[in-house]
Amino acid sequence: MKSVRRSGAKLASPESVFHLPAVQALFFQILSFFLVLLIARSLAAFFGMSINLWLAAFFQGLLAAGFSYWRKLASWWLAIQLFFPLVLLFALWLQLPPTLFMLGFLVLLFLYWTTFRTQVPFYPSGTATWQAVAELLPQERAIRFVDIGSGLGGLTLNLAERRPDSEFSGIEIAPLPWLVSVLRAFLTRSGARFKRGDYGHLDFAAYDVVFAYLSPVAMPALWEKARAEMRAGTLLLSYEFPIPDAVPTMVVSSLVNQPRIYCWRM
Ligand SMILES: C[S@@+](CC[C@H](N)C(=O)[O-])C[C@H]1O[C@@H](n2cnc3c(N)ncnc32)[C@H](O)[C@@H]1O
Repeated sequence: MKSVRRSGAKLASPESVFHLPAVQALFFQILSFFLVLLIARSLAAFFGMSINLWLAAFFQGLLAAGFSYWRKLASWWLAIQLFFPLVLLFALWLQLPPTLFMLGFLVLLFLYWTTFRTQVPFYPSGTATWQAVAELLPQERAIRFVDIGSGLGGLTLNLAERRPDSEFSGIEIAPLPWLVSVLRAFLTRSGARFKRGDYGHLDFAAYDVVFAYLSPVAMPALWEKARAEMRAGTLLLSYEFPIPDAVPTMVVSSLVNQPRIYCWRM
């Protein structure tokens, strides 16, 4: 038996927390707020000038985007940083009830949960992908399949319906999508099972097919775990994201111009 390393989504140590892009972005935004505040206070104290709030928000965003560019954060962070203070000000100006913000915050929190750490956001795959995955499954015998990061459970439920002879399950870290998938399984009387948790704690040796739709950041650790735990002859499938330096056994496309499915026979 190969040594088992539970390494799905590594927990960030306190020192490495600051290396997470979301944490850096937040830090730069707070830093920019205080810098703009300092400048505004100095202008008021020395020159009697008062700075327009919208202009201040614009400068705060510009500074935060500058810091993010300097630290080489991904391009989407620059846009988020630039517009964040302006959008915040706009939302305040709308004078919406605070409960609406709380509701929005809770929905996003339970939907994205640890995305700031795992860097694997929720995004569902579609029917063309489910069809392509169904065709990749071993047909001649019953199998055990797991979708690691099963989201709303669409793929797992669909496969369970197509293949009543086999066992289909999903594991999902975020509470809201997990709850939706459990309810969907219950309401459709599906045989698919959904567990809430981190796939890093799952033993891949128990499965014939492991399916992943994660993100480029997660792939090296996933490969390490799959190689340590998956049995010879079993199948690792990754939708959209290849594994650096791991040549796939097969690559298939669900549709033209759609992301591909990378397959590794272990
Ligand atoms: C791109 S979505 C894919 C959803 C689903 N597999 C599908 O095909 O529709 C990735 C999902 O993985 C979940 N996830 C991320 N890291 C995880 C982890 N370490 N353990 C379990 N789920 C995780 C996210 O919460 C998200 O719902």
